[in-house]
Amino acid sequence: MQSLLLLAAVGLAAAETGIKGWLRYAPVPSANASSLPTNIISLNASSNGPVHAAAVELQNGVAGIFNHSLNVLYPTSYQLSNTGSSIVIGTVAEYANTFGGAPKIPQLEDDGYFLNTTGSSVQILGHNERGALYGAFQYLSMLAQGNFSEVAYASNPSAPIRWVNQWDNLDGSIERGFAGPSIFWANGTVKVNSLDRVTQYGRLLASIGVNGIIINNVNANASALTPQNIEGIGRIADTFRPYGVRVGLALNFASPSANLVYGNLSTFDPLDPRVIDWWQNVTDTIYATVPDMAGYLVKANSEGQPGPLTYNRTLAQGANLFANALQPHGGTLVFRAFVYDSVHLNESVWTEDRANAAVQFFTGLDGKFAENAVVQIKYGPIDFQVREPASPLFSYLQNTSTAIELQVTQEYLGQQCHLVYLPPLWKEILDFDMRTNHTKSLVRDIVTGKRFKRPLSGYAAVVNVGTNDTWLGSHLSMSNLYGYGRMAWDPTSDPQSILEDWVRLTFGFDPTVMSTITNMSMSSWPAYENYTGNLGIQTLTDILYTHFGPNPQSQDGNPWGQWTRADGHSIGMDRTVSNGTGFSGQYPAEVAAVYENISSTPDNLLLWFHHVNYTTPLKSGETVIQHFYNAHYEGSNTAQTYPTQWSALKGKVDAQRYNETLFRLTYQAGHSLVWRDAITNFYHNLSGIADTQKRVGNHPYRIEAESMNLTNYEPYTVSPFETASNFTAIVTSANATTGTASTMLNVQSGTYDVAVNYYDLYGGKAQYSLALNNKQIGAWTGNLEDVLGHTPSIYLDGHSAARITFRNVTIAKGDVLKITGKADGVEPAPLDYISVLPLGVVD
Ligand SMILES: *[C@@H]1O[C@H](CO)[C@@H](O)[C@H](O)[C@H]1NC(C)=O
Ligand SMILES: *[C@@H]1O[C@H](CO)[C@@H](O)[C@H](O)[C@H]1NC(C)=O
Ligand SMILES: *[C@@H]1O[C@H](CO)[C@@H](O)[C@H](O)[C@H]1NC(C)=O
Ligand SMILES: *[C@@H]1O[C@H](CO)[C@@H](O)[C@H](O)[C@H]1NC(C)=O
Ligand SMILES: *[C@@H]1O[C@H](CO)[C@@H](O)[C@H](O)[C@H]1NC(C)=O
Ligand SMILES: *[C@@H]1O[C@H](CO)[C@@H](O)[C@H](O)[C@H]1NC(C)=O
Ligand SMILES: *[C@@H]1O[C@H](CO)[C@@H](O)[C@H](O)[C@H]1NC(C)=O
Ligand SMILES: *[C@@H]1O[C@H](CO)[C@@H](O)[C@H](O)[C@H]1NC(C)=O
Ligand SMILES: *[C@@H]1O[C@H](CO)[C@@H](O)[C@H](O)[C@H]1NC(C)=O
Ligand SMILES: *[C@@H]1O[C@H](CO)[C@@H](O)[C@H](O)[C@H]1NC(C)=O
Ligand SMILES: *[C@@H]1O[C@H](CO)[C@@H](O)[C@H](O)[C@H]1NC(C)=O
Ligand SMILES: *[C@@H]1O[C@H](CO)[C@@H](O)[C@H](O)[C@H]1NC(C)=O
Repeated sequence: MQSLLLLAAVGLAAAETGIKGWLRYAPVPSANASSLPTNIISLNASSNGPVHAAAVELQNGVAGIFNHSLNVLYPTSYQLSNTGSSIVIGTVAEYANTFGGAPKIPQLEDDGYFLNTTGSSVQILGHNERGALYGAFQYLSMLAQGNFSEVAYASNPSAPIRWVNQWDNLDGSIERGFAGPSIFWANGTVKVNSLDRVTQYGRLLASIGVNGIIINNVNANASALTPQNIEGIGRIADTFRPYGVRVGLALNFASPSANLVYGNLSTFDPLDPRVIDWWQNVTDTIYATVPDMAGYLVKANSEGQPGPLTYNRTLAQGANLFANALQPHGGTLVFRAFVYDSVHLNESVWTEDRANAAVQFFTGLDGKFAENAVVQIKYGPIDFQVREPASPLFSYLQNTSTAIELQVTQEYLGQQCHLVYLPPLWKEILDFDMRTNHTKSLVRDIVTGKRFKRPLSGYAAVVNVGTNDTWLGSHLSMSNLYGYGRMAWDPTSDPQSILEDWVRLTFGFDPTVMSTITNMSMSSWPAYENYTGNLGIQTLTDILYTHFGPNPQSQDGNPWGQWTRADGHSIGMDRTVSNGTGFSGQYPAEVAAVYENISSTPDNLLLWFHHVNYTTPLKSGETVIQHFYNAHYEGSNTAQTYPTQWSALKGKVDAQRYNETLFRLTYQAGHSLVWRDAITNFYHNLSGIADTQKRVGNHPYRIEAESMNLTNYEPYTVSPFETASNFTAIVTSANATTGTASTMLNVQSGTYDVAVNYYDLYGGKAQYSLALNNKQIGAWTGNLEDVLGHTPSIYLDGHSAARITFRNVTIAKGDVLKITGKADGVEPAPLDYISVLPLGVVD
């Protein structure tokens, strides 16, 4: 007892880096080792197989959770008399071999398992070895959550394809990576030293049922196919194999003519016999090294990538080139539906619409794809926005296997610097009913192959795991990776109960920890939608630069087709058939009718489907513009509560994870105000319509930096204008490295929070100090580019804008507040404004 208590205490105090993710196997206070079987029997002996890995995992898990060691017995050392009390793990077939008869259990499918804890022995049986491993992780998940109940059930995955897509470049960078460089690649080749992080990633993926991984960017580099890299890919595959994670590769369509050292061709025409031979040879060569390779992922004719259209071949012909090469090896070809023309879209043509592209490009191709080909469809028609309708392509392709593409990477959703728990978003899409042929046709029943009776189907999530100890750069973002695997296994799961499992596994059993993280996470997507883009207008991030901070203007006037068509009195994309782009007509009739009419379109997609006046009333009774204002204030108010809520967990979460998370939530609270002010000011400026609650443009607690007494500082006009209070910031004068801005405070004497809004660019680490009557009350460095991980900015804008707050400052009327900024590199210690806030006020 004493030792258990001691362990529990140590467990809390010890700093945790996050590297164990949800597989911490922390001591469970109520765990009683005497209730455990006395050993582990591993039926399948192959030393690199998933059953072996499962036995080792069980041993380690029990050691951590119970502080108790169990021996693993292998069939050679195994004696029937030992089965009295064992954790028996293996495939159903091996069980039948060993015990001379098949167990009487429910029907299992590929990767499915049976878990039985009702007797003195625990049975964990998989349809295949991978299934047995999943059963072991499920058993450990129960134990680690203090659930010692008796269960006997079978569980099968909803679909065979449950993959992640890493957008890792061969140079080690990661496209949309916010957590350090690649764990796979460096300097153009597979890492030569330890692949230990790959092992750990394999465990995490297996524990949530993920069975495949694409290890390079869909914007693919042909050099992935050099002999040296094929050897390296083999090492990665060997490392993942014990965890049942099969490796796949993203291909560059033009590889045959990419001047690789071998077989250079002058063409990549998918019907050219030389090209076909070339790919067959490459594929055979890879399979000689990776006999169980999952397959290929291809992005073609999209955003500058080469593809079959270059040769007037269809997308299906392009896909089948690879599918045919993979077919003899049992591999799967995944072809991305994200195809559109990013060069010629013209916003001045009212009927043009990027959202139409997928169905248009796949028109006539349904049923033309090889049996081992799968079309991977982003959940919405544009690009991972905060709110999109489900892609109509899910309904259009009825004789083609499809998979849904989700994004754990928070590309447009705060880049892991904002807490945004995504399974509720995914669930809305998965539960959407397409009403195909007037029949219930949930997206989840389509992507699991049930609705259209497809043999292959499933899920892919873009994931940006990097070398950072936290995997994703943020401890709380890991709930999205965990949730992805759980939703892919069973898309009917409840996002909140998935989250609660994750909280117990990641942070333990304290009820305040549970309620706090659950409250914050479950409110986080609605809050983020509120303070970014509302009513289906898309996220409104800067789409031309970082995809991070606000820049609504960037959506329009370019061929990327993420238009809002906002002008002085109206906003939204008219996607009706009657007067617009016709997109709503891509849905089956019943859904098309809902979206065609303003009166039946849900408010949260109004501006996705309709171009309306700012004064148009919503079903809620608010006007469009007043909803923008209200939602931005509500959403940022919600975000203000996050650091406060989290602070209550001090001492209940280990210090390192507590600190790192508090830092991010504090940043988010500040950046949500940047968002709020940018978006409300932008549309206020454009529409000229006042906020009925008089908040927008009215900031009684602010002191603009440009209105302070400046020494070696000068005003700077910020672009986009809405990302600076009063359009204006200050920067140190050209020849000066240190400037000061001071002001006399004309406030009632009392206690205040002092917030400073500044800009943190990359390319320098400016230093700031804040003083009251020349006595320093705070200091900070402009180094967010090192500690946050989002795509940084070199400008004063909505990405670099940040807020730091000094709490409980005692101020007397007439005190002089002074900020000293020391420029560094190209960072001119920029300041926007100071807010002197009575306690409880946020402005
Ligand atoms: C579970 O195991 C117990 C004993 O170990 C056995 O009696 C029972 O039949 C099993 N349950 C099922 C559903 O197979
Ligand atoms: C990559 O190359 C650089 C210099 O060429 C070297 O310093 C670095 O160690 C290499 N990284 C790896 C992971 O091999
Ligand atoms: C086949 O492909 C491998 C690499 O994938 C290459 O090393 C080999 O030279 C190729 N053979 C031919 C005949 O092109
Ligand atoms: C593709 O077709 C267009 C028009 O149909 C033609 O102008 C073009 O030359 C063709 N390109 C190729 C590579 O065959
Ligand atoms: C839907 O109806 C069309 C014709 O109206 C038919 O070709 C198609 O097979 C039907 N699809 C399903 C899944 O029933
Ligand atoms: C992880 O990322 C954070 C934030 O970018 C950084 O402060 C920290 O040093 C990184 N740690 C490791 C081990 O990479
Ligand atoms: C119909 O489309 C035109 C552009 O072609 C647009 O100016 C007009 O506002 C639209 N009408 C309605 C009722 O949406
Ligand atoms: C939208 O505003 C325009 C210009 O102010 C006006 O002409 C039009 O009648 C309005 N439309 C609706 C539906 O209110
Ligand atoms: C989002 O905004 C709506 C409308 O103002 C509000 O009802 C809701 O409570 C807000 N939700 C969050 C989580 O901020
Ligand atoms: C957490 O932050 C506090 C104050 O910022 C600091 O004193 C403490 O050392 C930090 N602890 C860890 C484990 O980083
Ligand atoms: C706003 O900025 C302008 C210059 O850009 C300046 O003249 C004016 O004083 C500023 N307003 C306030 C309230 O600081
Ligand atoms: C600026 O300095 C002058 C003289 O030092 C002082 O009178 C004035 O109040 C200061 N202005 C502000 C805004 O603090």
